Amino acid sequence: MTSIGVVGATGQVGVAMRQILLERGFPVDQVRFFASARSAGTVLPFGDREVTVEDAAEADPRGLDIAVFSAGAATSRAQAPRFAEAGAIVVDNSSKWRMSDDVPLVVSEVNPKALDGHHGIIANPNCSTMQMVVALKPIYDAAGIERLVISTYQAVSGTGKKGVDELLGQSRALHAGDEPPDPRAYAHRIAFNALPHAGNFAAGDDHTDEELKLVNETRKILGDPSIRISATCVRVPVVNAHSEAVNVETRSPLSPEEARELLRAAPGVTVLDDPEDGRYPLAIEADGQDDVFVGRIRRDRGHDQALDMWIVSDNLRKGAATNAIQLAEVLHERGLVGARVA
Ligand SMILES: NC(=O)c1ccc[n+]([C@@H]2O[C@H](COP(=O)([O-])OP(=O)(O)OC[C@H]3O[C@@H](n4cnc5c(N)ncnc54)[C@H](OP(=O)(O)O)[C@@H]3O)[C@@H](O)[C@H]2O)c1
Repeated sequence: MTSIGVVGATGQVGVAMRQILLERGFPVDQVRFFASARSAGTVLPFGDREVTVEDAAEADPRGLDIAVFSAGAATSRAQAPRFAEAGAIVVDNSSKWRMSDDVPLVVSEVNPKALDGHHGIIANPNCSTMQMVVALKPIYDAAGIERLVISTYQAVSGTGKKGVDELLGQSRALHAGDEPPDPRAYAHRIAFNALPHAGNFAAGDDHTDEELKLVNETRKILGDPSIRISATCVRVPVVNAHSEAVNVETRSPLSPEEARELLRAAPGVTVLDDPEDGRYPLAIEADGQDDVFVGRIRRDRGHDQALDMWIVSDNLRKGAATNAIQLAEVLHERGLVGARVA
């Protein structure tokens, strides 16, 4: 049995992690919830238990085996090392540690062996990268990947609760014929719009950090810095589940039929690819599911050795919470809890 802490337990990903721990029957002995001082003292249910939320900054983390973090990069920077030094293995959903050399960046279906070398903090990839690499791994193993051209259609839940509130608030106002509230979570109105600006532009950079995450994290997870990657990340007025159009140039020939067969056999992937019957992955159907859905698999008519595909997954579940809990399960099953590499 394991003592587990959920940091950011009151947020969207935290809610999903609490649900998924119960759904998957994770062997929880003790459970503790943490958030900011704003939520400290709130009582949240966990199965038939009631758990009082603790202020992460003030709490004593000793006694925790695993702490799953989803409280933003600033909280992870301040608190993850403190929790890890107290003995917990931290599985972190934020961007803070993903590209650190001594932090494994792990997707349970793709590179679980990377967990062996952890030093107390393990990073969960960005949601767009996560769903894409689950679908790309079998293709990479069979035919190699030379180049990826990616366009994302990212849901507002990827921005946290404030993104969802902004889309719904603006939509309600527009439906009522009122002036919509000014944008706060985004640079422009998101309702009935598409923003080629998911994430933030660092000073002097013409790519957003979200686009750079797709490039850098994909290379790290697949262990191949030579893959050439072009990404455009777009925020769309979808509440939950990210969609991605991905053009994959392979290193050896691979037909759409072969890709479909590989993907049908891949763990965590569901192929939905019968466009004549209107069957292809949809955000509204992926919402609430754990699999990565792939469809519209076809030959790129502009390139003999490239395929196009459409990849959809629930960014709060497989893109964040489900993978974090799957990693906790692997750590537990492999006896890695308490067996840290110094
Ligand atoms: N949304 C996604 O699709 C997605 C996917 C992958 C990764 N992530 C990452 O997961 C994290 C959370 O995302 P979310 O969508 O769940 O955001 P959210 O709904 O806005 O929730 C944020 C959570 O962080 C907590 N928090 C904020 N400041 C804190 C502090 N100073 N100390 C302790 N806890 C603090 C909040 O607690 P209070 O209730 O007390 O404010 C809340 O529990 C982010 O790092 C995000 O990048 C999100």
